[in-house]
Amino acid sequence: MNNDYRYLISSRNDRLAQDAGHRPRFFVRTYGCQMNERDSEKMSALLAALGFEQAQSQDDADFILYNTCCVRESAEDRVFGHLSRLKRMKMDKPSLMIAVCGCMTQQQEIAQKFEDKLSYVNIVFGTANRHRLPEFIWRTIETGRQVIDISGLEEDSPGKLPELDDVPVTTREYPHKAGVNIMYGCDNYCAYCIVPYVRGREKSRDMDDILHEAEALAADGVKEIMLLGQNVNSYKPGFPELLRRVNDIPGLERIRFMTSHPKDFSDELIAAVCDLPKLCKSVHLPLQSGSTRILQDMNRKYTQQEYLTLAQKLTTAGIALSTDIIVGYPGETEEDFEATLEVVRKVRFSGAFTFIYSKRSGTPAAQRTDTVERKIAADRFDRLTAEIYPILLEINQAKVGRSLPVMVEGIATSGACKGRADDYALVHFPCDLPLKQGDIVNVRIDEAKTFYLNGHVGIK
Ligand code: SAH
Ligand code: SF4
Ligand code: F3S
Repeated sequence: MNNDYRYLISSRNDRLAQDAGHRPRFFVRTYGCQMNERDSEKMSALLAALGFEQAQSQDDADFILYNTCCVRESAEDRVFGHLSRLKRMKMDKPSLMIAVCGCMTQQQEIAQKFEDKLSYVNIVFGTANRHRLPEFIWRTIETGRQVIDISGLEEDSPGKLPELDDVPVTTREYPHKAGVNIMYGCDNYCAYCIVPYVRGREKSRDMDDILHEAEALAADGVKEIMLLGQNVNSYKPGFPELLRRVNDIPGLERIRFMTSHPKDFSDELIAAVCDLPKLCKSVHLPLQSGSTRILQDMNRKYTQQEYLTLAQKLTTAGIALSTDIIVGYPGETEEDFEATLEVVRKVRFSGAFTFIYSKRSGTPAAQRTDTVERKIAADRFDRLTAEIYPILLEINQAKVGRSLPVMVEGIATSGACKGRADDYALVHFPCDLPLKQGDIVNVRIDEAKTFYLNGHVGIK
């Protein structure tokens, strides 16, 4: 059926191309995590296969797709802010087609809001029916009516998102690095988190499919792969085994993964990260809170001590740690917060994303009445970052004078380059060598800042 829609849309786009001198143009904007970014690449490839061409900017697009996030309220506010701009754009250009998909629209009440209040949005779909985009486009063309469909989340599609997984990605955000989904959904139900409700049950993707995708990317020039999932270390049949197989793919230089849950970080996995040469020696290990009581309320399934023991094992093995921390979770006392500061001091993270708790309706934490006052949460947020930043600077200062292999990420015409060290540290350096993204050069570190390093290209 989908093939019929594909044929109909391609033929229409061919005709429009003849009339207008160019194909209808699409523009995709992505919010949220790397999983959304990868999905957007696949949907862009799908749109290209339907005979659309990529627009240079939103302003010259005929079809605009927003792939949304709802992990915190601020993420949703941003989407709605941008959508109100599109409303004005559509007044000037009534043929503009607007589609919104992803985690935010997967919520029933949000989908309803589009029906009730945002009728200028043509298509609203979810996280489990992205592959039906051709059908939705055709339905809205034919009927002229708004199409809202967020079905599919409950369907059992073990390890495979039908059709979207198989779309060959024709354009990538970066030439040298790419994400590869290894699992979908999440079964952990952390009490604050909406992801399991909008992404569905955890499903591991077939290992051969993952390896084929990674091999194809390597053959296409990709040097760094990020294996993606909400809890990659619960990958079935086994994450260390998958890492070993990806490590064997010729052409790849660096392998990262995101995110790993502390409760499932086995010794076998630590050994794999240490022993496999392409595995970057840095791990993102979300702490969320340092208080055992709060961790229990959050349903995280580890204690402060268990986290500290694991962190100690990893750092002793030479692995840098970054983390996510939430302050102001319902019921968090000053003492709980101090337990978080204690972990921060002991572990010495080399990177941290810090968040003020955001109430997400439908989650267990949203029922809580013992909420933390906004002012107190904001104050804890400031105290937390005041604890973290000097440590980041100290960690960076210890690198001054050393020579680090840096993968080139960006080159400005002025010759200013930036790249990432193995531990994900951002490095700036001037360079007039004929470098390209994905090359690895040795950079001698001259200066440390809190969030980056300055250096110059050294001799090997
Ligand atoms: N699966 C990953 C995280 C995905 S969401 C994991 O478990 O580590 C990314 C981060 O957003 C989380 O680690 C958490 O710190 C933060 N987050 C999730 N829900 C939140 C909420 N309701 N309020 C504030 N931060 C939240
Ligand atoms: Fe959310 Fe927890 Fe799943 Fe991470 S592990 S996506 S925080 S429920
Ligand atoms: Fe956001 Fe969905 Fe990712 S809620 S963080 S885009 S899984």
